[in-house]
Amino acid sequence: MDKYYITTPIYYPSGRYHIGTAYTTVVADTVKKYKTLRGYDTYLLTGADEHGQKIETVAKKNNMTPQEHVDHMADVAKELWAKMKIENDDFIRTTEERHIKPVQQIFEKFLENGDIYKGTYEGMYCVPCETYFTKTQLVDGKCPDCGRDVVLMKEEAYFFNMKKYADRLIKLYEESDFITPEFRKTEMINNFIKPGLEDLCVTRTNFDWGIKVNSDPNHVIYVWLDALTNYITALGYLSEDDSKFKKYWPADLQIVGKDIARFHLIYWPIFLMALDLPLPKKILVHNWITMKDGKMSKSKGNVVYPELLIDRYGLDATRYFLLREMPVAQDGIFSPESFVERFNFDLCNDLGNLLNRTVSMVNKYFEGVVPKYVGQVNDVDKELEEYTLKQIKLVEEHLEKFEFANCLQELWSIISRTNKYIDETMPWSLEKEGETLKLQSCMNHLIEALRKIGIMLLPFMEETAKNILKQIGLENGENSWESIYDVDKIPENTAVIKKGEPLFMRLNVEEEIEYIKEGMK
Ligand code: MSP
Repeated sequence: MDKYYITTPIYYPSGRYHIGTAYTTVVADTVKKYKTLRGYDTYLLTGADEHGQKIETVAKKNNMTPQEHVDHMADVAKELWAKMKIENDDFIRTTEERHIKPVQQIFEKFLENGDIYKGTYEGMYCVPCETYFTKTQLVDGKCPDCGRDVVLMKEEAYFFNMKKYADRLIKLYEESDFITPEFRKTEMINNFIKPGLEDLCVTRTNFDWGIKVNSDPNHVIYVWLDALTNYITALGYLSEDDSKFKKYWPADLQIVGKDIARFHLIYWPIFLMALDLPLPKKILVHNWITMKDGKMSKSKGNVVYPELLIDRYGLDATRYFLLREMPVAQDGIFSPESFVERFNFDLCNDLGNLLNRTVSMVNKYFEGVVPKYVGQVNDVDKELEEYTLKQIKLVEEHLEKFEFANCLQELWSIISRTNKYIDETMPWSLEKEGETLKLQSCMNHLIEALRKIGIMLLPFMEETAKNILKQIGLENGENSWESIYDVDKIPENTAVIKKGEPLFMRLNVEEEIEYIKEGMK
């Protein structure tokens, strides 16, 4: 069985997670569910990035020690991922022994090999971002990432010799499809590599909350060197039991947001080169969820927390919206209006109605037993079969390329086409006219389409997908992904359920828009 190792970034436990943070995790989980369905031995890692000055400051503000704060936040995160049915196989915390020890060893290894050297650092430092910038990187004298003031700092520090690896990095970019989407590669080359890679300052002395350098304990290891290595320490790299590391490394897919692309596309592969380890096969960089008035922020009062949507509209509607509305390579906008619209149109009207109408017709015309495949009897049977097959290929192609919005769009075209098929075949007339064979074929084609739709929805909205398969009597059927390419997969005597619950109840547009807006305040 081939393995497939997927990682999310490890999140800062500085505050509650909003739908932006949840988005990365939902994307990772969707890939995990898809790859599992395709027969891979999958492993999904997520976790928390618990060190650094920012965490120290937040803890103080909450009258807690940093450890108390991160312990509490790790529980909060685990609860959220459980609520969102995220199937992570592990949750790594950078304050765990299993992470701290190997990070210290990695640092010493770098020192021994001459990748890290001691020097003096003088530069402009952004405290909230915990990052040094050169004067040319500043935008109007402020932090280029968060726009806040920077301060001039000078300290004795250790540096990682990045320049040494610049050529190998460029070669990697040129020879592999390591980065998705492509344009991020050009961005890295033009913005960071061509101007000359600067050595990276990898220790701090101005705060305590971090991993100490073994051979020089006045120094704390820079949070990004600490954090990036989580992807291998979680698998047991440099520990007594490194069987998972041997089995799953290198990662097949590492998912990161655009703001942390630089760390994952430049520093991370270089650290791995210095450790003489294989590189991840692919890094997927996604864009951001924004609001009509720009970035989500507490001060603007436009932050959406996943619980607000999940508790009222369900997990599947929330996951559907995030994946359908956010194109991975561009920013996507969240608005209460579009959420309610997608819920009513896509989920209620298109999907919900197709299932409802079909199940009641099979009940009405064939006492609930799905007729066997009788070939292409209605004028449009062939067309529906061919169209569906063509669309399935597109769905799969997009999914393989992690283009979730396009994938769902193509999947919804099958739903619309199947709804249209009902209008074209007019089963109610077929029944009146005694066209039993045509009616059988119509019902079989509808159930067959729903079977395929149900299976394709499994990675995206598992509960809804299983509900569909249950209502059409195929919950325990052979629901492999590969079977969606077949037209005749419904076993004899398959019975739909008598009275299916509607998948989604239509929302009152004004009321629900108001509800979401209120919840954002
Ligand atoms: N701790 C680092 C990651 C270290 S990985 C070795 C970090 N944490 S974070 O909590 O600030 O962000 C985690 C992820 O959430 C990033 O991938 C970031 O891009 C993503 N998002 C934060 N806000 C987002 C949106 N509004 N939209 C989509 N993703 C967003 O960075």
